[in-house]
Amino acid sequence: MSDIDRPLLVGNDHAVEQPYPVRLRGTVMRGFGRGGKELGIPTANLPEDVSQYAGQFIETGIYYGWASINSSETIYPMVMSFGWNPYYKNEKRSAEVHIMHKFDEDFYEKDLRVIVAGFIRPEKNYTTLEALISDINFDIQVAHSSLARGPYAALKEDIFLKPSPASL
Ligand SMILES: Cc1cc2nc3c(=O)[nH]c(=O)nc-3n(C[C@H](O)[C@H](O)[C@H](O)COP(=O)(O)O)c2cc1C
Repeated sequence: MSDIDRPLLVGNDHAVEQPYPVRLRGTVMRGFGRGGKELGIPTANLPEDVSQYAGQFIETGIYYGWASINSSETIYPMVMSFGWNPYYKNEKRSAEVHIMHKFDEDFYEKDLRVIVAGFIRPEKNYTTLEALISDINFDIQVAHSSLARGPYAALKEDIFLKPSPASL
């Protein structure tokens, strides 16, 4: 049982509201590598200029949406941490995407596209790694249930995530 007490559904049920959807695209960079090893939740870091761009539309915090890699046909749900990772006291604001799918390989250097569909919660600091991990696992459940609603599910079909005719 989780003692986390926050809603499983976030955002307006009937419409994706401004500033969403926010579309981000970049080459996956190497982060500090803690996500996969320490947390068991691997994250793909977007480049700094993409993070700067995102900052024009969204505040720091935890977000949910959809992602594709190398604009392949497969679209995955994702959760994204946008901010300073207070638990790790990072000096740069980063956009780190956890794709909700188990991959056998990492995808450094690949083209990552994400559609941010909504906000989950502000970033927090934690006294233990376990508390951070259980909050992230709850974020993943929030993303699953929130993306299942019609207007959010529809974003999965957004052409931004799909192969362009020229690359088919
Ligand atoms: C959905 C999600 C939520 C997160 N929430 C927080 C948070 O509230 N506070 C925090 O310090 N870090 C948070 N993190 C960031 C982790 O600390 C981060 O993934 C970790 O620093 C690994 O980064 P690295 O791959 O660059 O090493 C979150 C990450 C994800 C994917």
